[in-house]
Amino acid sequence: MSSVQFDPDHSLWLLQGLTSAYAIRLSEEETVRHVHWGPTLSLAEAALLPERLSPAASSFEEAAGQEELPVEGGARFGPPSMLVRFADGTRAVQWRYDTHDINGGHLRIHLHDRHYPLRLTLHYRVHADSDVIERWTTVENRDDSAPVTLLRCDSAAWTAPQLSNYRMSHLVGAWNSEFQLRRSDVPVAETVFTSRRGMTSHHANPWLAIDDGTADEQGGEVWSSALAWSGSWRVTVHRDPVGRTTWTGGFGHEGLTWSLAPGETLDTPVFAGLYSTGGFGAASRAWHEYIRRHVLSHPDETRPVLYNSWEATGFDVDEAGQIALAARAASLGIELFVMDDGWFGARVSDQAGLGDWTPNPTRFPNGLRPLAAEVRRLGMRFGLWVEPEMVNPDSDLYRAHPDWVLHMANRSSTEMRNQLVLNLARPDTAEWTHNWLDRLVRDHDIDFLKWDANRPHTEAGWPGHGDPDRLWIAHTQAIYRIMDRLRADHPGLRIEACAGGGGRVDLGVLARTDQVWTSDNTDPIDRIAIQEGFSNLYPAQVMSAWVTDSPNVATARQTPLRFRFHVAMAGALGIGGDLTTWTTEELKEATELIAAYKRIRPTVQHGTAYRLRGSGSLSAVQYASDDEHVVLAWCPSRPYGHGPGPLRLVAVQPDASYRDRDTGRTYPGSFLLGHGLPLDLPAGDYASVLVHLERAPDQHLEQW
Ligand code: DGJ
Repeated sequence: MSSVQFDPDHSLWLLQGLTSAYAIRLSEEETVRHVHWGPTLSLAEAALLPERLSPAASSFEEAAGQEELPVEGGARFGPPSMLVRFADGTRAVQWRYDTHDINGGHLRIHLHDRHYPLRLTLHYRVHADSDVIERWTTVENRDDSAPVTLLRCDSAAWTAPQLSNYRMSHLVGAWNSEFQLRRSDVPVAETVFTSRRGMTSHHANPWLAIDDGTADEQGGEVWSSALAWSGSWRVTVHRDPVGRTTWTGGFGHEGLTWSLAPGETLDTPVFAGLYSTGGFGAASRAWHEYIRRHVLSHPDETRPVLYNSWEATGFDVDEAGQIALAARAASLGIELFVMDDGWFGARVSDQAGLGDWTPNPTRFPNGLRPLAAEVRRLGMRFGLWVEPEMVNPDSDLYRAHPDWVLHMANRSSTEMRNQLVLNLARPDTAEWTHNWLDRLVRDHDIDFLKWDANRPHTEAGWPGHGDPDRLWIAHTQAIYRIMDRLRADHPGLRIEACAGGGGRVDLGVLARTDQVWTSDNTDPIDRIAIQEGFSNLYPAQVMSAWVTDSPNVATARQTPLRFRFHVAMAGALGIGGDLTTWTTEELKEATELIAAYKRIRPTVQHGTAYRLRGSGSLSAVQYASDDEHVVLAWCPSRPYGHGPGPLRLVAVQPDASYRDRDTGRTYPGSFLLGHGLPLDLPAGDYASVLVHLERAPDQHLEQW
């Protein structure tokens, strides 16, 4: 049976996920209305569901049920998902239904305006192995002479069922403090989550979860959504006074327009939604699974332990220095060596050189090949930092092409970190960018690019272009195209997305990269909260996490090497410290911990993640795969000297037994579930432990 069914008698479509269902209906007025998003149900049951009408119908209210993509016009007073202005000034859209088609799990519903030659396709896609529903739209202007101005063009509007209360969970932050989880009641208002920065942003991540205020980590219904877009975006949640909550979202921030030229088609990005039971923990795990199965290109590949030079050398890179670091890195068991900023042009600080992508001749007199060869001789892969969208005004590129940057006539251009943004919506700029990246990768056989972007967009104009606002979207589309092309032409190339840390983390970038640099903040205490917030949507496999020096450059906090490792081992482990200053003992401990990470890595990167909370200040994650369980527990401080008690685990079989691979101790599963894992934490603050359990044959269960 197809996962999408149609009941012609009731003009009803039913989409079935793994354990959930979504139903929509064509109304008599030929708008597509929301019927159900929740537990699974049959087509016959869905036909019994009434339309969600306003409980407070009067001549002042919109009485109609919730629409799948509300437009402007008619008795509609909530936030529209789609706002258009036709060439004659008319704004209201009035749809007629054309037809629909179903191809596997992909449903397309085709509509057209009653008068103007504007077409809209609503896309829905479900996968048999997931409860995530992917939604997006295609808009087409079939007029042969007049453009249509799109004032807003969202991918989807989501509707929560009638609940006793509505609470929202979302992620806020800033540079160095990304992915902070916030949870509060949805106000009876329109609440806007947005980025106006031309990139996803550190400040808000396009993930949102709604529940009735009673869900917790282990239980409760959660309706969540995530937008697959790496430029400016907006999601507006509307809770109305009569108890309905909907949210609409898509690319672009408010006020931007797109002039849809005669004959032009625009596809909006995927806005994915997930209904789950089992609380926030189960919602996260369902997202992780979806990302692995349907977003990432290489989900089964194990992410290598990498070394990155940034915190060790800053801009001060040269061949001898990098080779010295590479030698140390290789001796620790590192698998990929990444040289960060400072290797090209006149880039000896953030003042100059960005845009001039040829090796600095003083620092690398023979180019990068000798370094790349040495890294490979040492048994590692070779990666490089790039920032393809940016330029320093003090660069040969800018001197040759001052018109290639985002700028506006009669306005000065704001520099941030002494740099400007290239307008990749321009085909010539995008082609040039692709060409140098392609050459760089080809000439040096580069295995890995860290693709950075260190400032938001400002004065985003395009003098001389008739529809300059479109660059906000076209710039991101161009980045996607360049990444897609590079990956197609260099199948071995892996990419880490970065924007001054976690400024560009979303499902759109993950569809064409392999991991993300989570935050420039590598302080392990701050990282615990950052990583926990991150884990609401994104899996550990893509969460790049480095061990750096102590005291930390951002916070000046001093922490033990072991603690720093245990925090970073919860993701894709990297080392970013100045290895030339590490003591023999530190290098020995690091070698052992990297070896330990490689043992737990399959479970961390490919297993199922559970966020655990112990007593006192203890927090922990548990990763489970087949018969292996990895627990990483962190106790930043012990108020009054009180140590935490045992840590209750989840996802172990009560009637099985589990052996600690390091101590040999064996525990009954029922004991781990009911009483908890006794933690052998060192004394004092910044205590942490890694426990690697494997299911033991029953006869090995001993008294301990
Ligand atoms: C910001 C990144 O997040 C850092 O890791 C580093 O690559 C610098 N940019 C280099 O300029």
